Amino acid sequence: MEKPSFELLNPATGTKSELPVRSGSIGPDCLDISALSKDQGVFTFDPAFSVTASCESKITFIDGDAGVLLYRGYPVEQLAARSSFMEVAYLLIYGELPSNTQLTAYRTSITRHTMINESLLRFTNGFHHNAHPMAMVSAVVASMAAFYYDSMDIHNPRHREIFSHRIVAKLPTIAAAAHKHALGQPFVYPRNDLAYCANLLNMFFAVPCEPYQVDPVAAQALDLLFMLHADHEQNASTSTVRLAGSTGANPYAAISAGVSALWGPAHGGANEAVLDMLEQIGTADQIPKYLDMAKDKSSHFKLMGFGHRVYKNFDPRAKIIREACHRVLAKLGRTDNPLFELALRLEEIALKDEYFVSRKLYPNVDFYSGVIYSALGIPRSMYTVMFAIARTVGWVAHWMEMISDPAMRIGRPRQLYTGPTQRDYLDVAKRS
Ligand code: ACO
Repeated sequence: MEKPSFELLNPATGTKSELPVRSGSIGPDCLDISALSKDQGVFTFDPAFSVTASCESKITFIDGDAGVLLYRGYPVEQLAARSSFMEVAYLLIYGELPSNTQLTAYRTSITRHTMINESLLRFTNGFHHNAHPMAMVSAVVASMAAFYYDSMDIHNPRHREIFSHRIVAKLPTIAAAAHKHALGQPFVYPRNDLAYCANLLNMFFAVPCEPYQVDPVAAQALDLLFMLHADHEQNASTSTVRLAGSTGANPYAAISAGVSALWGPAHGGANEAVLDMLEQIGTADQIPKYLDMAKDKSSHFKLMGFGHRVYKNFDPRAKIIREACHRVLAKLGRTDNPLFELALRLEEIALKDEYFVSRKLYPNVDFYSGVIYSALGIPRSMYTVMFAIARTVGWVAHWMEMISDPAMRIGRPRQLYTGPTQRDYLDVAKRS
């Protein structure tokens, strides 16, 4: 059923505009304001895009009030319990769950694309030994455009598919190269007999001088975290990928822009910041002091891993990861984990505090993920890289959706200009 348009009256000119209502399959309606500037000569003002839908998408749906997250319609809880990261990657990128044959073919193709050009390794080795791995990963991803220009025609669907396989397959290899470079250890090549996460762990932890056996508990835990981080609709890094990609830039440049945007502590960098914060808090008796700091608007301190632009309820991913923490720590024999205990206590106290209750601030996906990464032996500086590996799938899905849309246009926000009005240049001698 067609919904009635909204009517807007310009009080200065008396001009009326019809703002058509656009409905999605679920979620709030959107007012189509695309003709507003032509009709009324005004723009809309929505800093930080709090209420603006920047595109139409069929990939991921979030109901932030109800704490619901769907990938292509499937609840994330069901996928987390029964699916795998490779299957979720296929679902997000291709739109449907794969058949057995399709999944096998996809896994095989990803496995066969895991090696990186030796020059990319040499490039990684050129970084200072204590460079942050996110800096290395974003640079190496951007430089992939210099290696794969044979298949970078963004208007060619087969080229887009080859890119999508390459980037998903090579991100773990690039991440492991950055890790080994920081350690000063030799790079470990990918192994095609291992599944995606097991191969990543092997590249991280194996050394040439002794055999290394991947712990299936660790590989499974990583697979779960990757499924939960795979996509989250138009978040800051995904919107960055879309905006960069909308210029027609090559896809590696667009993904590299996404990696850089993810690094910020308000976004994917929060997982690293949560563990720093827990260590800073130290003991449960210090929690009230830090909560007071988080509430103090004159301090820059925030409760990392808490709050979300969209979720005004529990982030469903945080719930799953908190449960997984109990399971994984028990299976790894690490039940005595003071940082996890402290995180649980912090959550309990914050969720009873009027400041957090009234602002609907709940733990987000990053609050507990670092506890699992640390139990797996992954160094803190690599946590956001882990997030980037998983989110690459979402970035690719969104880039593919945007590029294959015949109506795609360059993204170009407008502004409310508040600077000086036109004035004349003065020679330097005449300036006071
Ligand atoms: N600690 C203390 N106060 C907070 C926090 C926090 N973590 N998060 C929000 N608030 C407060 C704000 O100061 C604001 O208070 P006010 O109404 O008195 O001014 C109110 O809650 C509303 O928050 P906004 O800043 O409007 O929320 P916004 O949507 O702009 O920001 C964000 C969301 C960036 C996630 C924010 O909550 C935050 O910085 N959290 C900590 C960092 C973090 O965990 N980021 C990961 C997010 S998930 C992800 O990207 C993977």
